[in-house]
Amino acid sequence: MEHICKVSVKASKDYDILIGEGLLDAAGEQVRRVLGTCRPAVLTDDTVDALYGGRVLRSLAAAGLDACKFVFPHGEGSKNLGVMASFLDFMAEHRLTRGDAVIALGGGVPGDMGGFAAAVFLRGVPCVQIPTTLLAAVDSSVGGKTAVDIPAGKNLAGAFHQPSLVLCDTKTLDTLPPDILRDGFAEVVKYGVILDEDLFSAVSVPPVQDMQAVIRRCVELKRDVVGADEFDRGTRQLLNFGHTVGHAIEQLSGFTVSHGSAVAKGMLRAARMGAAMGLGDFTAPIRDTLLRYGFDLSCPYTPEELFDVMLNDKKRLPDTITLVLPERMGHCGLYKMPVSRALELLKATAS
Ligand code: NAD
Ligand code: GLY
Repeated sequence: MEHICKVSVKASKDYDILIGEGLLDAAGEQVRRVLGTCRPAVLTDDTVDALYGGRVLRSLAAAGLDACKFVFPHGEGSKNLGVMASFLDFMAEHRLTRGDAVIALGGGVPGDMGGFAAAVFLRGVPCVQIPTTLLAAVDSSVGGKTAVDIPAGKNLAGAFHQPSLVLCDTKTLDTLPPDILRDGFAEVVKYGVILDEDLFSAVSVPPVQDMQAVIRRCVELKRDVVGADEFDRGTRQLLNFGHTVGHAIEQLSGFTVSHGSAVAKGMLRAARMGAAMGLGDFTAPIRDTLLRYGFDLSCPYTPEELFDVMLNDKKRLPDTITLVLPERMGHCGLYKMPVSRALELLKATAS
């Protein structure tokens, strides 16, 4: 195995994130090290299962762990209460106990659903995250936000439930289609804009050479944010840079626009909104970087359409909304404003 790096998270539950090549084959040994003898229920989608399900199951078996596996059709369309209910039934049928565990194998969709299932099954069982997309590696597998989408909006039903372990096998990124790899870079660029100017500079001209170092840096940044505000009452909302408008675009498109692509569009809009408020204009470096990755930054929705969906944001108080806006590169601020002001800014930045 190549060099494995470790980032340790201190939150309501402490856990390690291991990053490096070959970790899929060490899943059994690592799960056993952290959780002891348990029955893991592996939750994954059909694409990831075909690529990596067998290896993970073999590794678990080699460590003496008698795993069961639940596979659902890939894509955001599966991130719903129906699939969740089927997985909860599956775990009950396989007689999992609180001493057992969920293993979420795949991108952010299996990750969010596996985390949520682990949070609610028997009022809480351990969860191990094995991210296989860049987006999941740098963001969704870390920090304990879990959710499913409901008809009223994205991620509107969920729980905070920290994983017990995150195993990020960087070799799995090799099989990602280019557009899905690119989605992850939207979140990487996000970390640079909100927290680390050096990271932003390092990734602003692709290709990135050292993915392990980039994932490690993103995860360290997220570790610090989650350590300071695990339950999203303040600082953690910085991680939503580009997401308020992004989620609206994702939902208005019927999820045909991916999360990463929507966040890229949302970040550009947030940069424009910040400039319209006189905070400083970081539109050009953000736009140019995202264009170099090949993102389509157009937004086919009117300010009123975006606004209507943004009002479902779960962080919103009745008449206010908090926007994350860049103040300087590597530093964003939270701007709480009347919802009417957010609509004005959307109108002022429509192009
Ligand atoms: P995803 O899980 O749907 O993965 C995207 C596609 O990539 C899927 O079709 C999947 O089958 C495929 N795939 C996964 N790994 C692969 C691999 N190694 N090789 C080839 N194909 C592979 O989605 P995503 O983009 O990873 O994540 C998006 C989701 O994450 C959204 O639902 C979003 O809301 C959520 N999210 C959650 C958080 C959080 O903090 N919980 C943060 C960011 C995003
Ligand atoms: N992805 C946003 C968060 O974890 O808070």
